[in-house]
Amino acid sequence: MREQLEAIQAEALERISQTEDMKELQDIKVTYLGKKGSLTGVLRGMGKLSKEERPVVGEIANKVRESITAALDEKNEKLEQLQLEEQLEAETIDVTLPGRPVKVGGAHLLSSIVQELEDLFIGMGYEVREGPEVETDFYNFEALNLPKNHPARDMQDTFYITNELLLRTHTSPVQARTMQEYKGEKPVKMICPGKVYRRDTDDATHSHQFTQIEGLYVDKNVRMSDLKGTLDTFAKKMFGEDREIRLRPSFFPFTEPSVEMDISCKVCNGEGCSVCKGTGWIEILGGGMVHPKVLEMGGYDPEVYSGFAFGMGPERIAMLKYGVNDIRQFYTNDIRFLKQYHKA
Ligand code: DAH
Repeated sequence: MREQLEAIQAEALERISQTEDMKELQDIKVTYLGKKGSLTGVLRGMGKLSKEERPVVGEIANKVRESITAALDEKNEKLEQLQLEEQLEAETIDVTLPGRPVKVGGAHLLSSIVQELEDLFIGMGYEVREGPEVETDFYNFEALNLPKNHPARDMQDTFYITNELLLRTHTSPVQARTMQEYKGEKPVKMICPGKVYRRDTDDATHSHQFTQIEGLYVDKNVRMSDLKGTLDTFAKKMFGEDREIRLRPSFFPFTEPSVEMDISCKVCNGEGCSVCKGTGWIEILGGGMVHPKVLEMGGYDPEVYSGFAFGMGPERIAMLKYGVNDIRQFYTNDIRFLKQYHKA
């Protein structure tokens, strides 16, 4: 029996040492130590042994079981370790590889410019207001001192919907709407960005739909110098501290006196170049002191209140600031154009 046990031990240990497979290791365990296993079979036959032989063989059998069990455990541990190593190897991430770029959108250049202008004027105490794009003839023209048949209506070719309804040609009607809402009782300090429409033929500098920002400040003792100071601050913040402004006399029915504001050309520093057409100055916006009739129609007593107003085109500002040479680029949404202005 001793030889039988030793043979079982040798065979089991040999098979354990040979295998590299967990499943096979499990089979080996069943073959030798299982209920129907060969070691168990031998132990069952111990009943036939004499009293003296039994403890001796029993001891050997225990040692055989222990050594097989120990070899199984050891191998099992080794295979588990190996499996873990293989898994780690397979799942290794090379953290030094460059990542795949994540595509993110960004604000449209026009939106960023409007946002920037809003922030600038909010910083000077202005509120941001809105008005309808489908406007009445009254707010778009009459309340701004442009009665029916006034020749200055021709300055803005209009899309009429009916005789009384139109697509607003400028954001100025929001001046009239705001004054009316405030009932002549408190100061007004507002800007209004928004879309406007004109019957123009589209080309590099014209579009039938574009954007404007209107500004209005009405209070007691508002003077022309306040307008100049405000526009100067705006120009320097938007185009650089070294920019100069100049005001030229102009005409708008809703302001008196009226001005147009130029900034000194950044390209040639006032020397004269192709960008400023040799003048050294670039036209930016229109403005002036609110006409007494406009104040009156808005419900403000022109003897008590005065104000200034201005209107500018964010597209033009963006074109000058970033050297965009065709206004249509803002609306055709070529991603290659837009992407250049996405802020990181
Ligand atoms: N509404 C004018 C335009 O579209 C721009 C403008 C000029 C607005 C003078 C004003 C202003 O408020 O005072 O051409």
